[in-house]
Amino acid sequence: MSVTSKLYEGKAKILYTTDVPEILLADFKDDATAFNAQKRGSISNKGAINCSISSKIFQQLEQKGIITHYVDNPKPNQMRVKAVKIFPLEVVVRNIAAGSLCKQTGLGLGTVLKQPLVEFYYKNDELGDPLLTPERLLLLELATQEQVEQIIHLTLRINEFLKDFFRKCSIILVDFKLEFGLDSQQQIVLADEISPDTCRLWDTATNDPKNRVLDKDRFRQDLGNVENAYQEVLERVLKTLETDV
Ligand code: TMP
Ligand code: ASP
Repeated sequence: MSVTSKLYEGKAKILYTTDVPEILLADFKDDATAFNAQKRGSISNKGAINCSISSKIFQQLEQKGIITHYVDNPKPNQMRVKAVKIFPLEVVVRNIAAGSLCKQTGLGLGTVLKQPLVEFYYKNDELGDPLLTPERLLLLELATQEQVEQIIHLTLRINEFLKDFFRKCSIILVDFKLEFGLDSQQQIVLADEISPDTCRLWDTATNDPKNRVLDKDRFRQDLGNVENAYQEVLERVLKTLETDV
């Protein structure tokens, strides 16, 4: 299979069409952005680390019966994926209060939520990815009511799997962001990536608010040792898969 042309370049990935219809190649970049690309930088080896972590997690989710866009992982920083039409939604799940939830509600950092909170944000850089109400989501016809219900159901199943999986890696899954698409049969498919770029991951070994951070908050907040943290997550994921799952 060979690449034919560049289809789309996002902040963290480039998507290429291939000579196989319905299969795209995602090339994960080392570029890092935060705060709607107001902060820019690079994290060495991030593309390969995030692609490897995402590939392993997608394979695990497929085994649990969750349909993903994952096809295979031909190079460390490349994933072949099924072409899907992405819903312009960022689906965020929170188990513990952090980030914008604390900023916008006053909840203290680290507050354990009684049940997972699922939120929809409008994936629109020009508007700054605003939080949507369910009514606004339907008003804008970003998905149908039935699709929203299916997405929430899938998201909660994915959260249960991921919380348990990361617990085995001695990592607390604080929150994360998912994206979904529709395949050619109009099935809802988990897409994008699941990585330290898109999750908040805290090391269970320490309560120190800086040292525990194993995710992109190290970059957002200039905490240093960003690559080491991403590498640590990959190593724990691989070790857990070898010994446990
Ligand atoms: P937030 O607290 O900034 O709203 O982020 C919630 C989760 O979503 C966190 O795990 C980081 C992830 N996220 C992304 O993957 N992409 C984004 O653009 C943003 C803002 C957050
Ligand atoms: N990825 C997002 C951006 O650069 C924001 C973030 O992850 O904080 O815009």
